[in-house]
Amino acid sequence: MRDGGKGYDPATAVLIAALCAASAALLLVDGAKGDEDEFPTLLINGFTATHAAGSPSPFEPVLYAPNRAFAFGFLRVGPGSLDLAVVHLPSSLPLWRATPARLGDWVPPRHALLRHHPRPHHRRRPGTTTVLWQTLNAAGDTVALLNSSNLVVRRYSKPLPAWQSFDHPGDTLVAGQNFTAASPPLISSNRRFALQLGASSMALHMELYGGRARSPAYWRHTALEEPPAGNATKAPVYGRLDGRGFFGMYLDGDDGERRVDVLSFDTFAEANLAGAFFRRMTLDDDGNLRAYYWADGGGQSTKAWTAEYEAISGPCGLPTACGAYGLCVLGDEAQCQCLTTPCHAGEEETTDLCDLAGGQHVAEFDVVRRTRVTVAYKEQLPPFATNTTAAACEAACAGNCRCWGALYSGASGYCYLIDFPVETMVYDADDAKVGYFKVRKVQSQTRRGMAPGAKAATTAVLALVLVSLVAAGAYMGYRMWERKEEAA
Ligand SMILES: *[C@@H]1O[C@H](CO)[C@@H](O)[C@H](O)[C@H]1NC(C)=O
Ligand SMILES: *[C@@H]1O[C@H](CO)[C@@H](O)[C@H](O)[C@H]1NC(C)=O
Ligand SMILES: *[C@@H]1O[C@H](CO)[C@@H](O)[C@H](O)[C@H]1NC(C)=O
Ligand SMILES: *[C@@H]1O[C@H](CO)[C@@H](O)[C@H](O)[C@H]1NC(C)=O
Repeated sequence: MRDGGKGYDPATAVLIAALCAASAALLLVDGAKGDEDEFPTLLINGFTATHAAGSPSPFEPVLYAPNRAFAFGFLRVGPGSLDLAVVHLPSSLPLWRATPARLGDWVPPRHALLRHHPRPHHRRRPGTTTVLWQTLNAAGDTVALLNSSNLVVRRYSKPLPAWQSFDHPGDTLVAGQNFTAASPPLISSNRRFALQLGASSMALHMELYGGRARSPAYWRHTALEEPPAGNATKAPVYGRLDGRGFFGMYLDGDDGERRVDVLSFDTFAEANLAGAFFRRMTLDDDGNLRAYYWADGGGQSTKAWTAEYEAISGPCGLPTACGAYGLCVLGDEAQCQCLTTPCHAGEEETTDLCDLAGGQHVAEFDVVRRTRVTVAYKEQLPPFATNTTAAACEAACAGNCRCWGALYSGASGYCYLIDFPVETMVYDADDAKVGYFKVRKVQSQTRRGMAPGAKAATTAVLALVLVSLVAAGAYMGYRMWERKEEAA
């Protein structure tokens, strides 16, 4: 950012000028003390920074938290993509990212605070610069990064932030961050898993068909204390990672916040560690929800993230441990086998088997039957029938194009239908546990679906903008504030 004013090529300078004229932005950086210039802690409306394409470090900070543990800036991801990110500086880990794949944040541009100009070899005309990301429905005058890593946009006159990154988590929650029913779900960075909050529980879900279809749950945690029953307007629980080493679930009542559940981490009892560690909770790409701490400073500092909690223990408990149509076999070490021959593991289904009306099978499929098979998240599948036979269980699935598989347990007579593409099953040494699976026939010229998010990530990102909305209004507000300050 220190070079921000020098590095423009003429085309970009023109572009910024045009942008400024259109949005009445002004360029100002908090620079009260000369020493602080190197570590700005406040950005003011109209602030502009340019990403230096040739910089050796993938992360280019433009804004620091006062405790200097976190910074906000440009993060290069691979050769062609750029994010805005809040990074934990000791570990270089991005805690929050304004990724273009977050479709909900895409709205037309109005007003730029931070921008990235095209790299020469992209050969796009400067006029085609597009906004990569901006805050939604938030008007602000300043941007600051708090000691908690929360990025906040504020109006000068308002004590509450107009927008804060804590309300828009990606795959990670940090201490002090409320995860509420209004928050978007936590999404793993590969976008295959989501953590969602219900009225009195939280659950991990598989995101299928790029999130277009129902997301089946594979793990659920219900608050010990239920919200008071019989009140239709009752507030749902919300969760918050506590710096002391637990994830609490809370209810707001008349007498303030009430804790209704605690998921405690391994280090919870070691009270002397409170506050010494920086903690995060991340939905990892394998679908597990884990808490980690980073011990910084002190002689015994680990200088690494140490896991202190995981929602699902054991590799076979993870929903896609062995890929699609995989079979996870627990032994001294977990082993992956295949339900089908040849093995389909790793191939993700992108559509279902039904016609558009949803009544008939359109895709051709083979049938695979296996004994000694079950699924790790059976409790999350609603039982289709509880006192039935293997044949009836299979028939219920065979005739339903939404069904990809049926699991029957001879001991209990329970039948479970899998109404989503079959993922990893688990070996269970019980001959009465039988499975029926549909395997789509591979067409010779099958077009492979693009992994969700891949398009957005590979599209050359030409402009990166953190936007403060209400362009002219915000500017006028600032001018008036400035005049008042001058007059005072
Ligand atoms: C943030 O951290 C800095 C340095 O540790 C400290 O001086 C400052 O008081 C903290 N700010 C708040 C609001 O806690
Ligand atoms: C989290 O929620 C509590 C209780 O509603 C509130 O007091 C606190 O300010 C919230 N924290 C943030 C960062 O929004
Ligand atoms: C239901 O909840 C609302 C909001 O929390 C509260 O104002 C109301 O008194 C509750 N009603 C009953 C019958 O508990
Ligand atoms: C289960 O089904 C069998 C045979 O249809 C029947 O005799 C039995 O009463 C059923 N049991 C229950 C608990 O419904």
